[in-house]
Amino acid sequence: MWIRIICVAIGYAFGLFQTSYIIGRLHGIDIREYGSGNAGTTNMLRTMGTKAGLLTFFGDCIKCVLAVVLVRICFGKAHADILPLLELYAAAGVILGHNFPFYLHFRGGKGIAATAGLVLSLHPVIAVCGIITFFTVFLLTHYVSLGSLLVYVGLVIEIIVLGQTGAFGMEQQYLVEMYIVTILLAAMAFWKHRENIKRLLAGTERKTYLFKKNKK
Ligand code: G3P
Repeated sequence: MWIRIICVAIGYAFGLFQTSYIIGRLHGIDIREYGSGNAGTTNMLRTMGTKAGLLTFFGDCIKCVLAVVLVRICFGKAHADILPLLELYAAAGVILGHNFPFYLHFRGGKGIAATAGLVLSLHPVIAVCGIITFFTVFLLTHYVSLGSLLVYVGLVIEIIVLGQTGAFGMEQQYLVEMYIVTILLAAMAFWKHRENIKRLLAGTERKTYLFKKNKK
């Protein structure tokens, strides 16, 4: 049990690095007071431009990759039998730290760039599927929220399929734990995107463009 709590705590500490908030503050604004009010890549892209948006994505994504790599280095030998599960706990910690940073009164982002870090570091199949899903949806619709939510749906399916085919090399009880944590993360992402979902259903969701001026 303790090892799981330690991994979540390590992740939470990494998740506290709020790239959008820091960049915004360096430019004299609180990004949470602009656009969608979200401290994340998409709102930065629309509010402060492509460079700031991409920098935010990089910062929020890499903090998750670093947390996963640190857990791999620290516990890879001693807990090799449950390493993918511990990596998932670390990523869950990062997403929690990003979404609910205590020093910003628990008002952070929606955890999608951090989830990208998880998707890119957990398993190559998950990375490829995540990239294909997101860019297909984004390029066809320009809805980041829809792409993000579909990546989460894919993540749940991929983790279950990979788990059952032995790709994580873990016993069934740990696999089930992994599925539950992933489903909880997906549920949190859907809850965090509840306003986006309402707008998607109403056809009023903001479209986002990488190289075109965005509506704020
Ligand atoms: O991950 C954030 C994205 O899915 C939506 O962000 O700013 O449009 O609410 P935003």
